[in-house]
Amino acid sequence: MAIPQHFIQELLARADVVEIVGRYVQLKKTGANFSGLCPFHAEKSPSFTVSPSKQFYHCFGCGKNGNAIGFLMDHTGAGFVEVVHDLAQSYGLQVPEDERSPAERARAAEEAEQRATLSDVLARAGEAYRKQLKESPRAIEYLRRRGLSGEVARDFGLGYAPESWRTLAGVFPDYTDALLTESGLVITSEDDADKRYDRFRDRIMFPIRGVKGEVIGFGGRVLGDEKPKYLNSPETPVFHKGRELYGLFEARHALREHGYALVTEGYMDVVALAQLGFGNAVATLGTACTPEHVQKLFRFTDSVVFSFDGDSAGRRAARKALEAALPFATDVRSVKFLFLPTEHDPDSFIRAEGTEAFGAAVKAAVPLSRFLLDAAAEECDLSTAEGRSHLAANAQPLWRLLPTGALAQQLLGEIAGQVQIGPHELEDLWGLRRRPAGNYKKESYSGRSGAGQAAKTPKFSSPMGARRTRTPPASRASRALQIALSEPETWERLSQDEHALLCDLPAPHGPLFTWLAGQSLDHGPQPWSALREALRGHAEEPFAVEQMAQLHPDIVADPAELRAILRTELESQLKRQMDAALAEHDLARYQTLMARLAHLKRRAGDSP
Ligand code: CTP
Ligand code: MN
Repeated sequence: MAIPQHFIQELLARADVVEIVGRYVQLKKTGANFSGLCPFHAEKSPSFTVSPSKQFYHCFGCGKNGNAIGFLMDHTGAGFVEVVHDLAQSYGLQVPEDERSPAERARAAEEAEQRATLSDVLARAGEAYRKQLKESPRAIEYLRRRGLSGEVARDFGLGYAPESWRTLAGVFPDYTDALLTESGLVITSEDDADKRYDRFRDRIMFPIRGVKGEVIGFGGRVLGDEKPKYLNSPETPVFHKGRELYGLFEARHALREHGYALVTEGYMDVVALAQLGFGNAVATLGTACTPEHVQKLFRFTDSVVFSFDGDSAGRRAARKALEAALPFATDVRSVKFLFLPTEHDPDSFIRAEGTEAFGAAVKAAVPLSRFLLDAAAEECDLSTAEGRSHLAANAQPLWRLLPTGALAQQLLGEIAGQVQIGPHELEDLWGLRRRPAGNYKKESYSGRSGAGQAAKTPKFSSPMGARRTRTPPASRASRALQIALSEPETWERLSQDEHALLCDLPAPHGPLFTWLAGQSLDHGPQPWSALREALRGHAEEPFAVEQMAQLHPDIVADPAELRAILRTELESQLKRQMDAALAEHDLARYQTLMARLAHLKRRAGDSP
């Protein structure tokens, strides 16, 4: 059950990151901030700082950073929900999900119960398949031919589903039990619901386990060349292909020993690699690698090597993995890409070339930074200005997915180098620096936003709660106000998001925009002279008049300028929200926001 965003914000507004970090780390006041020895890496002199104004901690040594919730998750190893509940309790707050109706709560309990029973059913089926394997010389011979040892088959719980249509009828007392169909093990015929049969027949069975080791589904491979080669469990309450990785449970110890995860595309790859010394291999389940996969992996290791077949499908898959991994590529993590020779997958490569050759290939894997550059340069003729510009355009959306840090900074330099322009010019090109425009004041470098900046001082109102909201630079909010008040049509043409952004500004700007919104609703667009009259006696009157008095008569208040201001602000607001979502591991929200950002950019591209 999702915890509403507003509640998280309320919690963050109450929680004091200095107090919370201070429970675990001895902090000393140094200027405006606090510092201490980083709890996340061994160090002798303090490079860990906590900022009370930004409500953020950051280690300059290892790069770890985040807000109060993130700190508790990282430090205690607790999950997001657990941390939120604990914090809420300490502030005497009720987590809204607890306000569910009794019916809803009963349903949630039922679902949890169902998950448990589904796993029982699946485990029992897995047991039966394993027994069947022992009794099928044909299946054993197949595994032997594929080079699998009995030991690895046992470790992974491999089994065999016999040819019969109703093997499971002999395993479960009630073959018509709804749990059998819900678990995906049994299929009911479309025209006759009474007709049932086993989904998996005459296949080698690979049980798929969740992170706690419970069986959540199966993959089944034919023994010959029949189609489809692999059959997977359907999506069920316990099995979501886009989130699960085959072999993750089995790899848990090896991940620590090897210090990295090896992500492959196939069941056989995982099993073969485990047998030949790479127990740290996992596989996506016949789907492209998703951000959720990556996020899950980084709970177990700081280093991931994606391996892909050398063909064009492999390159496409690698692109997907790159995009999924970029938001998580912080400075303390490593992401690499291993491209195998065209004819090989990891299974065939390691069997043909041996463990050492595979190990060498892993060592030589391409770092994310280089793959990003390669991917951006694809089909660009770098000997021409056009080709190099094309590279810049390709690189931008990828680069923007990176969290703030040294990696992003260096890549910016490298991309600029490839484009043959200076890094500052590239920043200008990508709108990362605010340049003096119109008649409003030059703003200092605002940086880019990224995971490390969820609480970065907001320009306008922030989603992080009023406590951390600073007054925006008066020049820009005032400029927006002057334009809106002097150009009657402007307000009407703004979007809802834009209205909300302006109305939510801190006083005195926000309330004046809110007043304007009401006026516009009641009377439509009106010139300043009419607005001036309508303002008489209102609390907003003095401020509005003062603002308009400052509007230089020679300077045209251009609605396009307002649009530009708003677009910049909306974008950075969205990015701040994305950072916050990432910091809170709320990937669904992150993606929604990313889509909105893309939409905003598209719209900006449409209208000059
Ligand atoms: N896959 C699938 N359904 C298919 C084919 C493939 O789900 N019809 C998934 C499986 O997870 C499979 C992976 O994609 O392991 C890679 O497929 P492929 O390269 O075709 O198979 P291999 O893993 O190489 O299998 P094998 O070596 O057994 O032929
Ligand atoms: Mn293969």
